Formats: sequence, structure tokens, C-alpha cells
Amino acid sequence: MFQSQPEWIILHGSDVTAVIECSKNEAPLWRYWGMRLPDGLTPGSILRESRPEPSFSPHFDQPLTIFPGGGVGWFGAPALLAHRAGADWSFQATRCEVEQNVGSALIKLHDDVAKIELVASLSIKGNVLTLSTSLTNRGDGVLDVAWLASGVLPLPADARTVRSYSGRHNSEFVAVTDSLTRSMWRRENRRGLTSHDCFPGAIVEADGATFGAQLGWSGNHAQQIEWIDDGRYQWQMGEAFAPGEVRLASNESISTAEMLATCGADANEVAQNFHAAVRARIDWPGGKMRPRPVHLNTWEGFYFDHDEAALVDLADAAAVVGIERFVLDDGWFAGRDDDRSSLGDWWADSRKYPNGLLPLASHVVGLGMEFGLWVEPEMVNPDSALYHSHPDWALSVDGRPLLASRNQLVLDMQRPDVQEYLFEKIAALLRDLPISYLKWDHNRDIIAAGNRPAYRAQVHGGYALMARLRAAFPDVEIEACAGGGGRIDAGVVQHSHRFWTSDNIDAVSRAAIQRGFLQFMPPEIMGAHIGASPAHASGRSQSMAFRGGVALPGHFGVELDVRKLNDADRAELEWWISTYKQHRDRLHHGQVWMGEGNDGLLWQAHGTPHDVLLLIYRLDPQTQRHAPSLKLPMLDATARYRLTDAPFGHDETDGAWLIQHGLALPPMKAETVQIIRLTKI
Ligand code: DGJ
Repeated sequence: MFQSQPEWIILHGSDVTAVIECSKNEAPLWRYWGMRLPDGLTPGSILRESRPEPSFSPHFDQPLTIFPGGGVGWFGAPALLAHRAGADWSFQATRCEVEQNVGSALIKLHDDVAKIELVASLSIKGNVLTLSTSLTNRGDGVLDVAWLASGVLPLPADARTVRSYSGRHNSEFVAVTDSLTRSMWRRENRRGLTSHDCFPGAIVEADGATFGAQLGWSGNHAQQIEWIDDGRYQWQMGEAFAPGEVRLASNESISTAEMLATCGADANEVAQNFHAAVRARIDWPGGKMRPRPVHLNTWEGFYFDHDEAALVDLADAAAVVGIERFVLDDGWFAGRDDDRSSLGDWWADSRKYPNGLLPLASHVVGLGMEFGLWVEPEMVNPDSALYHSHPDWALSVDGRPLLASRNQLVLDMQRPDVQEYLFEKIAALLRDLPISYLKWDHNRDIIAAGNRPAYRAQVHGGYALMARLRAAFPDVEIEACAGGGGRIDAGVVQHSHRFWTSDNIDAVSRAAIQRGFLQFMPPEIMGAHIGASPAHASGRSQSMAFRGGVALPGHFGVELDVRKLNDADRAELEWWISTYKQHRDRLHHGQVWMGEGNDGLLWQAHGTPHDVLLLIYRLDPQTQRHAPSLKLPMLDATARYRLTDAPFGHDETDGAWLIQHGLALPPMKAETVQIIRLTKI
């Protein structure tokens, strides 16, 4: 139950602390969010009692609260923008109740004037603070909500830069660093799904601390960082609503997506904190992650050209090199010969598979591999049996053209008949075939989102279908894909087990994309394949060794026609597959550190400070005469290490030496990788 207010809300994680000051009849004030403060802390002063009134300022001082309102003396961006037919537009808590437990607080704000009730939820697990908001319309008329932040965080006055991520199909996680100034910084996505263009998260560098936040949401979103009058910044993040999208009837409520926030000494600590939080959100079959099986995905090797006999041969060849899961990608269903038709007709193409998919699936399973299948449930092609019988199932706006993208339209996931159809069709496949894996694609942005905008309903409809299928088939894993990395976020991760990181498998491009991914998501859910050379997306050719070394740390797979490899390449592929199997526990259970050495070297380390697998990448040619040594700050300065596969025959060295002086490296050619294991002796 909600109690009367305590004076302070202090939430500690292992290495982070949030301090909130409560006073009567108003929203609590944000005093501190950052690196851990001691237990038993007594904050220095009470802001409400001590802050002097600046000249020409309202007599009622309005510092940053956990949920700033509007029209009440707070001149920064409000966390809520709402009105009832133009009235009740100003929001200010008139009463506050707090329920505080260890590590969490529910803060209930009543605005008895605007008749709005709002619950801000804050809870810390490990080092991640999860924030969300629910709002109930307690007034008589409809409450029109334009903005409702999932969370509001303070950032310190010494916050300097923010790194966010831009991109496009084939080029996800393009890092963009902006300076924080007195101008508002804002990123917004209105593509209807998470998007390739605007990952819903960012990293802020301040003096002595790095902050990170991401939104667990697969739809439209916005975030903004705004300088405020006391020199700090406020960081708001939430779903972005279209006009008229959220209209709450009397006593109707809305709950937002969750914002995950953390802080650490550097970006690696932020990544590690996010990895722990995301790992805790994944619902693995059986409650525990199994070692991530090596994939063979048919897409780039076959595209739509499915020939059953060739795929049976491919399965044979895949099993020989050590593949553990065979994923039949797009092209298997009725009439699907290219990307112009058939989405929605989720039964096997009888020309390509005269006896259905069972013979191929059984063959795969008989070889000891799992069988996975590609679907794109939310979509329909106008040229499909589904569309011919239910043209009204596609989202549209009356009077506007139906804008296709990749020749497809989007099904209205709010409709119970659409949900039922998709569930029945996919459930039939899962019932009739030995399928243990679905690759769930979403290959277009959403434009016409219905006569009343249904962007968020669309996201919830997709989640509901995934949840229903998972409840009915709990052993089936799901891969979230949207033309590669268009739906990578901490929301869909609650229904899925792997992301397809990008359709660009070029290893140079991937090295950068994966670093962006790993800032927010753990490596075991990062789909990473050895593709063909030249790479289909870029046309660049790369050695198998480089492609293997870049794919190795993720959820490893192969996306080429294994039958066509020459003996040397096949042997090398086998070596990478067995190397992955040997290291996957180390790669996928521990911490990840990433850094840049001198002269363009990139490095990445996985494991623990006492047992790490180090991957050193050189993308561009060396510019120095002698290679620089590489400092390894994640090691234990008091330990001595055994080095496996290190250059110059080094087999033992002190941690302190490797931290301060660094590991001596020979020259490396462009597009090569070195992999070294360091274990404490
Ligand atoms: C986009 C995905 O990212 C690809 O891997 C592949 O599944 C295609 N869609 C199939 O249409």
C-alpha cells in the first residue's frame, strides 16, 4: 500500500545510486542519479528549504522533479503533454504517496485539479534503474495525451557529449556524437517499429561517469536531453504518439514501455550493466539459456530459389561441418518466388515442396540439427490469397494511397480475426512440423497506421502474438528480425532469443555494427554469420579468417551455400565452427570489454578478468612503422597470465605489464584478426 511520504527515497544498486527528495503535496525532486553513494547516506541539504530565489523568478521555485509538469512554473520540457478538449492542459501533482521497498519505489502523483493520476515506478536491479509510468484519466472528458515520458532522469552539469545511433537498412548502429549545450538535444523515430535509423537509446559522457539509457519498446519513440536552470540536464525517454493516438476515456489508463538506465565508470561498464539487465529479461525455454547452436541460414545461399533436393543436400553438407540449427528462410511458402507476392499465405509451396515441409524438416532433425523457419506474420502482399479474401485486414487511412514498401502492406494487428488467423496458421506449422525456431521478420516501416493511428496498438499486437505462440509452444525460440536490425530493442527481447543484427554481413561493416549492438545488448543474442565473399551487401571480398573472427563472438552462424565451398574453405569453416563451440561459454556468459588501441586497432574481450578471450581487429592498413602495443585495462593487475596463441611466443606475462605497457603485437595486415586467450596462472 502507499504510505505517507518519506523524506528521502534512496535506491542503491551495486554501483549506482538514485536519491529523490520528497516534500508534501508535490512530485518528489530528483537530487542525484549516478555512481554509488555509501549506505546510510544523509544527503547534504533539503533543496526545498535551501535554494535561494533568483531575481525575476517565480516565488514558488520549481526544481526538476521525477515527473515535471507544465504550466506551473517549471520552464523545462514537461514529462506529460495532455488536455481535455483544450482544458486541463497543465499538470502539477497536488498530492503524492510513496510506496518504498528495497531497491524500488512506486510514486503515486494525484493532480486533483486536472484530475489525473500518475504512478511513476522506479526500481534498481544490479546496476540498472528501470522506470515506467502509468496514467489514469480521473476526469469526465476524454484526455488527449501527446507525450508521456517513461522516465525522467537528471544528468550532471558536467555531462559533455551524447552518443546516439543512426543508420539505415544494411547500416545499423552508426554512432553519432553530439555535444550537450544549452540547446535541446532530441532524437525521434516515427517509422512504426524500432527502426534501423534511430536506436532507442544513447550514451552520455560526463566527468568521471558514463550514463546510458534505452527504451524497451519496438515502436515509435523519442528521447530528449535538455539543459535546465541549475546547470544539470534532464533526460526524458518514451514512446512517441501520433496525434489522437492516445485518447483516454474517463477512468481509462495507459502504461508506458520501460526505460532502462545505468551509469558506470566508462562505456564498458554501462554495456556490462545493460547486458545483465537484458539477460534477465529473456524468457528462455526451460528457464535457462542453452549453448547457442551454430546456425545455417539459407537466405544468401538460396534466396527465393528453393529446391527441395538441393536443400536436402545442403542439410547434409551443413551437418558435416558442424551446423546445429538449420533455418529455412524466405521462399518456402505458397507462390513465393520473389518479394512481390504471397506474404500471408503461410503454407508450404506445393510446387517446391510437393509433400510439404515435413520431409525436409525431418531430414534436418534426423541429421541431429534443429529445424527453424522464417515467417513475417505482420505483413501481407496485395498479391496473396490472404489479401484477396481480406483486403480490409491491411492497415490504411481512408482517402490516402496504400503505400507499399518491399511490395507489402501491414496487417492490422489490433483485429482479433487477424490475430486468430496468424496464430492458427503459425500454430499449424509448429504443430505439424518439428520446428524449434522461428525467424520473425518485419520488412517495412509502418506508414498508414489506420484511420485512428494505431502504431502502439500494432506493437502490442505483435508482442501479443509472439506471447501467445510462446505460451502454446514454450520450447520454440524466436529470432527478432526487421530487414536485419530494424527491431533490436529491450522490449521485443522479452519475447525473443536472438536478433538478426544486419543484412550486411560484410565483416568490416559488421565490426562497427556489432560494437554499437554490444553497447546495449549481450553477445549471445547477436546473430553473426560467416557470409559469402564477396559480401552480397557491399561487394567487398574478405578472407574466411577475417569473416570468422568477426562473427565468432556473437550467436554464430553460416549464411552461404556450404556445398559450393572448395576443400580448403570448407576445412577452414569447420575450424571456425569448432573454435566457436570451444569458446561459446566464455563468449556468452561473462563480461564484454571493447576498446581502441593505437593506430586504428580495435579490440574486444569476453569472459572474466581472470579468463578472457581477446579479439584484436585491424580494419585498415597500419600507418606506423612498428605496431603499437595494446593495453589491456580489464585484466587483474595483481595476477600473472598464461597467454595462448599470443604473438612473439609470449606465453606468460604479468597483468600489471599488460595493463600499463600493453601486449606487444606484430604488424597486422588490413582485415585480419588475432585471437588470444589470457588465463590467470
Ligand atoms: C530480411 C532479413 O533480414 C533477411 O535475413 C531475410 O530473412 C529476408 N528478409 C527475407 O525476405
